[in-house]
Amino acid sequence: MDFNIKSGNPEKQRTACVIVGIFESRRLSAAAKAIDTVSDKYLSNLIRRGDMDGNKGQSLLLHNVPGMIADRVLLIGCGKEREIDDRTYRKIIANSIRALNNTGSLECVSYLSELTIKSRDHKWKLRQAVQVAEHTLYKFDELKSKKKKSKRPPLRKITFTVPTRRELPLGETALNEGRAIANGIKFTRDLANRPSNVCTPTYLAKQATELSKGNRSLTVNILEEADMKKLGMGSLLSVSQGSAKPAKLITLEYKGTKKTQKPIVLVGKGVTFDTGGISIKPSPAMDEMKYDMCGAASVLGTLAAVAEIGLPINVVGVIPTVENMPSGTATNPGDIFTSMSGQTIEVLNTDAEGRLILCDALTYSERFNPEVVIDIATLTGACVIALGKHATGLLSNHNPLARELLNAGEESGDRAWQLPLWDEYQQQLSSPFADMANIGGREAGTVTAACFLSRFAEKYHWAHLDIAGTAWLSGANKGATGRPVSLLMQYIFNQV
Ligand code: BES
Ligand code: MN
Ligand code: ZN
Repeated sequence: MDFNIKSGNPEKQRTACVIVGIFESRRLSAAAKAIDTVSDKYLSNLIRRGDMDGNKGQSLLLHNVPGMIADRVLLIGCGKEREIDDRTYRKIIANSIRALNNTGSLECVSYLSELTIKSRDHKWKLRQAVQVAEHTLYKFDELKSKKKKSKRPPLRKITFTVPTRRELPLGETALNEGRAIANGIKFTRDLANRPSNVCTPTYLAKQATELSKGNRSLTVNILEEADMKKLGMGSLLSVSQGSAKPAKLITLEYKGTKKTQKPIVLVGKGVTFDTGGISIKPSPAMDEMKYDMCGAASVLGTLAAVAEIGLPINVVGVIPTVENMPSGTATNPGDIFTSMSGQTIEVLNTDAEGRLILCDALTYSERFNPEVVIDIATLTGACVIALGKHATGLLSNHNPLARELLNAGEESGDRAWQLPLWDEYQQQLSSPFADMANIGGREAGTVTAACFLSRFAEKYHWAHLDIAGTAWLSGANKGATGRPVSLLMQYIFNQV
């Protein structure tokens, strides 16, 4: 989608569709008032007749509005003016884009970016509007042999407005940032939605390599199984030993500022399919385990966005990627492996594989001398039970880092919720035969998974994002969400 920014009166817009808000109950927004004035009360008359109350979710398409150069005017219900919060704003934008997409308009000028939202500025509104618009129009149909062709040409260009020319430069920046984030999210969703026979560890490595070719600030490094063996990554390799597809350890480095500046390291779980291994999963919905690489996809999408904007910061993406399969060469429950850190692990359940690949990636991350390390992983079903699909689970060994991530979540609307990482939980991981077991029993599954990881993250400030509930949706709306790219981007913006 092509996004633009403009200032100016609605009646002057030569466009297929002008979009304005109507508040509850039957009140006109500033842009709607302007149209009302030039049209000799056309809007207030039809509102008085009861065609539009301004309730949330309403929309009304008008043609040939007197005094307007635009072909159409689209009225969007916004609810009570004083009550428009972040979430309502996003819904208003999404509704407007859906309604617009049902018209024949190839482009539009939307005044909804001028709505007042408590303690949010133009920058925020524009960044969000672009992301929501792109999100609403997203489709994954690259593997359908016949694309659904609509009879009319599709929507191509969306112009958002700012009140005066003064806000244009700032708006332009916000638009560019929003566009880059939206592109990163789309990249993440596409990768995640691709099935495991397409999106293999090798494929992820190729995607990272492609990204690095497209930007001078990005460099890629791919470790093969032999390289990992030399580094002593016995834990990571134990997961991949059951699969015919070779594991990769992808490093994608973004240098946006001087070498001496310590990087933010993002570690993404890249299990391209999780059968559970010998501790095999039940069949229902097992297809969704193609999404077990959403952490990896979000790291690549975030780096793509950071590179597109050219942020003056250093970021490193580290992606351990494997397939978890049962086979004659797979791990058996009870097998013990030595991790890169030297700590030994008794694998009591081969389905707790995410932590087994992440722990070696966390140890590997020490070499980047990180400012912070944040891992992103579809790690535990328990997190879905605890928080559902609305909040990402957050655990950290450094409370200021946890706070910053929680705040970034609030600001971006891609929210996380903190769970405790107390010592009391660590004992659940004891093993009679190795330094630790890879599972901690039924209780507090998300916490004990993070406890496991914390043992490999002692040398730096670290946070863990469990995106098992938030990375994709099931049912009628099945598909990747692109979370938590938006949260991570907000966090990174706040560091520069
Ligand atoms: N990838 C899964 C976690 C998962 C399950 C994410 C369902 C989203 C939906 C992970 O590898 C896993 O299987 N975890 C186990 C851990 C258990 C064996 C301790 C789980 O959550 O059941
Ligand atoms: Mn698993
Ligand atoms: Zn998994």
